[in-house]
Amino acid sequence: MKRTEFTGYPEISKQEMEAAMQFAVSSVTENLKTFTDKFQKAYSENGFYQPIENNYWTTGFWTGEIWLAYEYACAHDMAQAADALKCAGEVQIDSFLNRIVNKIEVEHHDMGFLYTPSCVAGYKLTGSKTGREAAIKAADQLITRFHPVGEFIQAWGAMDAPENYRLIIDCLLNLPLLYWASEETGDQKYRDIAEKHIYTAVANVIREDYSTWHTFFFDMKTGAPDHGATCQGYRDGSAWTRGQAWGIYGMALAYRYTKRAEYIDIFKHVTEYFLSHMPTDLIPYWDLEFTSGDEQPRDSSSASIAACGMLEMVKYLPEQERGYYVTAARQLMKAVYDRCSVKDYSQSNGLVLHSTYSNHSPYNTCNHYGVDECNSWGDYFYMEALTRLMTDWKPYW
Ligand code: GLY
Repeated sequence: MKRTEFTGYPEISKQEMEAAMQFAVSSVTENLKTFTDKFQKAYSENGFYQPIENNYWTTGFWTGEIWLAYEYACAHDMAQAADALKCAGEVQIDSFLNRIVNKIEVEHHDMGFLYTPSCVAGYKLTGSKTGREAAIKAADQLITRFHPVGEFIQAWGAMDAPENYRLIIDCLLNLPLLYWASEETGDQKYRDIAEKHIYTAVANVIREDYSTWHTFFFDMKTGAPDHGATCQGYRDGSAWTRGQAWGIYGMALAYRYTKRAEYIDIFKHVTEYFLSHMPTDLIPYWDLEFTSGDEQPRDSSSASIAACGMLEMVKYLPEQERGYYVTAARQLMKAVYDRCSVKDYSQSNGLVLHSTYSNHSPYNTCNHYGVDECNSWGDYFYMEALTRLMTDWKPYW
């Protein structure tokens, strides 16, 4: 298989990673004043996140940043910061329990994005019983979206709406919640649904050239695969960059949980498609249709997500295959650190600039917001990628 090497592009150094994490931990700690009872909005506006209630699909990422900062503080004997972070994480877990008990904006598939980096993380790190209870309830909510006809978890909207009878590639990151719930409860129903969704998703969202569909529709009566379509990508036939990055991380997780050998091969091809479409400065454009020199917004979050996926997958690859992916991950993180990371609080209350949430084009169906800004998953996966590179990290996912 062809391999894309960014020859001559430097890798992020140990000192740079240390500096990046120190800044991230102090920024997260500083932000607790505003964001303990409240959550960060999904994206910044002119570099600054506004506080919101716990009512959007992205709020778990901020709590995940708190837990990653907590891990760093514990490992570096920063007892005061660790205490403050733990207290804030616990307040947020209470909010997540309240959200799932009262069913506040949970009629969608993003239970994993919400409850894994917040409640599962808090449970794994501190033994939080509230976190465990909330996350199991969230897993119960997620499986209500499974269609036995078609065997997939529906992403958005009413379950009987033909315009929403589809899965999206992002959902691969929601499934670790189900595997975790099976491990915790001993009930295999969560795992069985996750597995069926993975098979259906992988069979349909990966195209012949290993680019990916963002969303894929099924026939409501028969469950037969119908057609792919984009929502947040530039056009139907293009590869939305973050979708491809979710695919990289999703395939690594799919392999970890299913141990299906063919998923290693798919991971390699999907990753190759992503890497071979990077511009020379290694900050991805928002859609892989665009290349060096195009006047289009970037999506730095995709670089961090892809790096996390590669660093997860190397754990299952033979030694001689690991270096390629670790080098690529370190190069991507060098680019994100150099070109996108916030280095001064007056610039932003986030961590990573130049991400794109939702860029409207003449050919897609999404709204237009969070373009060339920070976004909360970009910040979260930046910290996760650095933590993965610096430590033997035990994943929340
Ligand atoms: N999961 C939605 C997004 O990546 O924007």
